[in-house]
Amino acid sequence: MPDDYTPATIADVRRLRDTLDQQGKKLVFTNGCFDLLHAGHVRYLEQARALGDAMVVALNSDQSVRLLKGPERPLNPENDRAEVMSALRAVDAVVVFDDERATSLIEAIRPHVYAKGGDYTVESLNREERTALEAAGTQISILPLVPGRSTTRTINKMQSSESAPAGNGLLRLAVLGSGAGSNLRAIIAAIADKKLNAEIAIALTDQAESSFREIARAAGVPALFVDGGSNPRRLSDAAQKEIFEHLERARVDVVVLAGFMRILKEPVISAYAGRIVNVHPSLLPKFKGANAPQLAIDEGELETGCTVHLVTAEIDAGRILAQAKVRVNMGDTAESLHARIKVEEHKLLPQVLNEWRERGLPVRGAGAP
Ligand code: GAR
Repeated sequence: MPDDYTPATIADVRRLRDTLDQQGKKLVFTNGCFDLLHAGHVRYLEQARALGDAMVVALNSDQSVRLLKGPERPLNPENDRAEVMSALRAVDAVVVFDDERATSLIEAIRPHVYAKGGDYTVESLNREERTALEAAGTQISILPLVPGRSTTRTINKMQSSESAPAGNGLLRLAVLGSGAGSNLRAIIAAIADKKLNAEIAIALTDQAESSFREIARAAGVPALFVDGGSNPRRLSDAAQKEIFEHLERARVDVVVLAGFMRILKEPVISAYAGRIVNVHPSLLPKFKGANAPQLAIDEGELETGCTVHLVTAEIDAGRILAQAKVRVNMGDTAESLHARIKVEEHKLLPQVLNEWRERGLPVRGAGAP
């Protein structure tokens, strides 16, 4: 048995596609990480293969799995994953690809059928991939997930049996942000200065190129990107699900919204009830929503500030945990006022997080859903 398995090349797959084409047959294409193969994967691949006459699986390289799922993945290196995958009855060829998305492969291979598993709809597919599929005239087929089988579930099961519930005693945070990232930087600094007894398990952003992501990377924090969809204030269903999976995988105690400008909904809100905290640049309940510093100026307020509060399904309305006041100066612009509010946010948010357990707030496992 040779121990130097090599995956197929794009040229191999294109040849396969052309041969099938000449015979009036169809090539099915699907992609994924397939890190810890389970019966759900096998059944999905069988169904996908039945949509055509041969199937190529594009496997995310180790580097792209890390980008998509965090630094602790993959569990198995790409060549091993490719070798196992290629041994399956349903699979005719395996290629390994390096990007977060399969767009360039779709463009190169132009498969007849594209199969995707899960809770996606054609509308909630990644926009880039969908455009490439439509340009190639590929038929898109969404297949149902096999219930009760998932890699995350298996990993969590293994970890919960081997690790003590309190772990190392540090509060495990996920920090979500969309912009400048100054609150993320303040949390990182507070941890380094031992003023905050916590660790950042993941930083997650809806902005692929943002200083938030840069700050996370520079601090060595896994900096994950989730494409939130076309509405800048909302998250697509697929994005909500992706965020939930990231939080679960990272075994997060508390979700910190530090300038995350899209509205979080299910399944995160219920699963993390009492464990999602937001920082907002006003003295809530005044000035909810966007542009709070400008609204304070427009209303002629002499004083405004910032609020750290728990997040519920209703926007900026959950239990207030702490507030700090900031004077509104004559001649303040929204920018100058917001800058002074942020100075207070940078103290208040790490302080509330450091007091999390003392305040009797929930963490993962212990009483949390
Ligand atoms: C912060 O001022 C935060 O209060 C605000 O976004 C800013 C993010 O700054 N959040 C909201 O307005 C939420 N409604 P940062 O990216 O520099 O941390």
